[in-house]
Amino acid sequence: MAPCGMMRGQPRETEPRMFDSLESLPPDPILGVTAAFRRDEFPHKVDLGVGVYRDQAGNTPVPTAVHEAEQLLIAGQSTKTYVGPHGNAEFNERIAELALGPLARSLRPRISSIQTVGGCGALRLGAELIRAADAEAVIHVSTPTWANHEPLVGSSGLELQRYPYYDPTTRGVDFARMSERLAQLPAGAVVLLQACCHNPTGADLAPDQWRSVADIVERRGLLPFVDLAYQGLGSDLESDAGGLRGLAERVPEMLLAISCSKNFGMYRERVGALVVLGSSPAAAAAVATHQARTARRMYSMPPDHGAAVVARVLGDPRLRASWVEELGAMAARINSLRELLANSLAACRPDRDFSWIVRHRGMFSLLPLPEAALATLRERHHVYSLSDGRINVAGISVDNVERVADAVASLLH
Ligand SMILES: Cc1ncc(COP(=O)(O)O)c(C=O)c1O
Repeated sequence: MAPCGMMRGQPRETEPRMFDSLESLPPDPILGVTAAFRRDEFPHKVDLGVGVYRDQAGNTPVPTAVHEAEQLLIAGQSTKTYVGPHGNAEFNERIAELALGPLARSLRPRISSIQTVGGCGALRLGAELIRAADAEAVIHVSTPTWANHEPLVGSSGLELQRYPYYDPTTRGVDFARMSERLAQLPAGAVVLLQACCHNPTGADLAPDQWRSVADIVERRGLLPFVDLAYQGLGSDLESDAGGLRGLAERVPEMLLAISCSKNFGMYRERVGALVVLGSSPAAAAAVATHQARTARRMYSMPPDHGAAVVARVLGDPRLRASWVEELGAMAARINSLRELLANSLAACRPDRDFSWIVRHRGMFSLLPLPEAALATLRERHHVYSLSDGRINVAGISVDNVERVADAVASLLH
């Protein structure tokens, strides 16, 4: 019986409360910008913060092939019984092929893939796998890197260190400093590299720089952990994977975290894969058991729908061709917006060079503005970037580009 005067289920005042000790956290740096944008009532506000592709109308479309594959899948689905911790086997195979291209066949005996909860799930699972093999391993990330890398990979308990990457003067990769640092790392150090469309800088390694990185990785015995979140959105499916393929060809071991969020427009379906290359078929088989155990301990099994849809698109020549064409149009649109923005900025400030915007690949570039100017951009001009200056070029349109360029140009000194 509850004591007199006290409702059943209500705790007594003196009882310690588990969650009373928690203090509210500051907003997530990326999701916080979205929330601020939503609160802004200005009708012509521009969201360059969140990293999703947008078409001319400002929508984030579902590719036609994805939509069609979904209908076919639902019409033909006879069961929703469990699949297993590794997820959809056909998806795992096809997504590894998409990333590795012709190499996938020869590397197949040394590959173990697991379907993950988006690219984030792949990064986290990869870090857990590394920790299972070596709890002292250190993961090296670029300066700067995507804001989520640190919490995702760092939460595994592994130490994180940084290597130089971006040069704010040239707005390109500081390859001399990057390679110097990589060449000093001890054997077994893990190097997190972004395959293409570097987030947040837009500055990618050139093919010869990828070859030099592969030389260093091979010579020093480093472990590459490649994040492939934008295949097809930089130049095309093959060139965007060129660097990672060059590595996979040469190194004994490698991890590849794949996201299907952007290139398949599958964001909320959470589709990704962790592809691990082991030094031998036996090593890959052991990796497979650890992948399954890690998944089982964290969330048991991934959701099926999105991966089944991607497998269908990749496995059906007609749907695949339609998707490749639509993806090509997305990349072309991003690259034409880059030119448009660079030209509009140059028209406002002929004294400045904006060619770096055109050289960058993918959706992101960093605005060369200090935090206070970015706040003015937001508050006075209603143009929202992330607090480090990252803009999503796909958020620009022919209708707002001049306003964005005027506003940014007015804040450059
Ligand atoms: C660099 C990078 N890696 C990985 C991801 C993973 O995305 P998701 O978990 O949505 O598939 C993203 C998404 O923004 C990204 O920018």
